[in-house]
Amino acid sequence: MTGAAGFIGSHTCVDLLTAGYRVIGVDDFSNSSPHAIERIREVVGPDVAGNLDFVELDVRDGAALGKLLGGGGRGGGPVYAVVHFAARKAVGESVRMPVEYYDTNVNATLRLIEAMREHGVRRLIFSSSCSVHGNADSLPIPEEAPARPTNPYARTKWICEQILSDLCVAEPDWRVIALRYFNPVGAHPSGLLGEDPRGIPNNVMPYLQQVAVGRLAELSVFGSDYPTPDGTGIRDYIHVVDLAEGHRAAMEHLDDQTGYRVYNLGTGTGTSVLQLVAAFSEAVGRPLPYRIVGRRPGDVAELVADPRRAAEELGWRTKRGLADMCRDAWEFQRRNPGGYDGVAG
Ligand code: UD1
Repeated sequence: MTGAAGFIGSHTCVDLLTAGYRVIGVDDFSNSSPHAIERIREVVGPDVAGNLDFVELDVRDGAALGKLLGGGGRGGGPVYAVVHFAARKAVGESVRMPVEYYDTNVNATLRLIEAMREHGVRRLIFSSSCSVHGNADSLPIPEEAPARPTNPYARTKWICEQILSDLCVAEPDWRVIALRYFNPVGAHPSGLLGEDPRGIPNNVMPYLQQVAVGRLAELSVFGSDYPTPDGTGIRDYIHVVDLAEGHRAAMEHLDDQTGYRVYNLGTGTGTSVLQLVAAFSEAVGRPLPYRIVGRRPGDVAELVADPRRAAEELGWRTKRGLADMCRDAWEFQRRNPGGYDGVAG
C-alpha cells in the first residue's frame, strides 16, 4: 500500500489488517506523519499489528520498489495486490506546480507498474477522483459520464486512468480497479486516526476542524451565489471508513474480472457548505464562526456520485451519514488538537 500514512491510506490499512490481510505500507512522509503508522498499530491492537510492515520510500524510486515487491516484506511471500494511494492532491497547488504534480502522480504510477510487471504482481487498486469529470452535465454522476478535468491535479488522475486502461488492453492478465473518490471526510471512531494536513487546510472539513479547536479563526465560505438551494457549493461527502471498506470490497472483487474497471465511491447524497457547517457545529456543540466570501476559482457548483455500479458489482454501500462524519472528525480533532505531531497552529 503506497501512501499508507495518509488520510485514506491509514484508514484502509486499519480496515484491511482487521479483515485479516497482511499489509506492507509505503510512504515518504512528504505530506503525512510517521505517527500515523504508530496509530494504525494502536487501533488494530497488538495481535494484528504484526501483520503490518512499513518501508519508507518514494514511489518514483523504481529500484527500491522492485526490491520491495521482489522480497514480499517480512515473511517474504508474494504480493497479492497493490493499493496505490501515494499522490499529491491539492488542486490550487497543482495549478502553480504542474510539473511536480505530473512527476509525483504520473511518473510514480509508471514506475509502480514497471516494478509490478517485473515481479509478476498484476492486481492494482488505483486512487482516482471525481474531479476527472470537471463540470458535470447532469447529476448524479455515473462512471461513464465524460471526463473533462479542469486542473492539473485532475488531469494527472485522468492520465493515470487512461494509462491503466491501455495497459489492461495490451496485457490482459492485469486486473485493475480505479476508484473515483468524492469528498472523503470523517475519521476513525476511536479518535486515533484522522485527517491531518500539513499547513493551512485546503479542504473544507479539516479547515472546520481547526476552527473548532481554535487554530483558525473562522471558515471562509467560498461563494453563496451558486445555483443550489442555499447558494453554497454541494458535494458528496463520504465517511473515510466507508471509503476504506470500499477498497476492501474492490480487493475482494479484483478477480471477478480481467482488465480495467472504474467505480465511483460516494454516497449519492449532496450536502451544501452551510449544511456541513451546521452539522459540524451540532457535533461540536456550539456554532462555528464562518464568513461568506467570493467563489474560489475552479470550484464547481455541485458534484454528487451515482454509486450504483459499486453497489451492484462490488456489493458495497456507504453505511455512515453526515452526523457520523462530523462526530468522528470532531473526536479526532478534539483528541489531537495539534494533529499527529502535536504542533498547535
Ligand atoms: C477538491 C477536488 C478533489 C480533490 C479534493 C481533495 C475538485 C472539483 N475537487 O475537492 O478532486 O480530491 O479537493 O483535495 O477539484 N469550501 C469552502 N471553504 C473552504 C474550503 C472549501 O467554502 O475553506 C467549499 C468549496 O467551495 C466546495 C466545498 O467547500 O464547495 C468542498 O471543498 P473542498 O473540501 O476543497 O473539496 P473539493 O473542492 O470538492
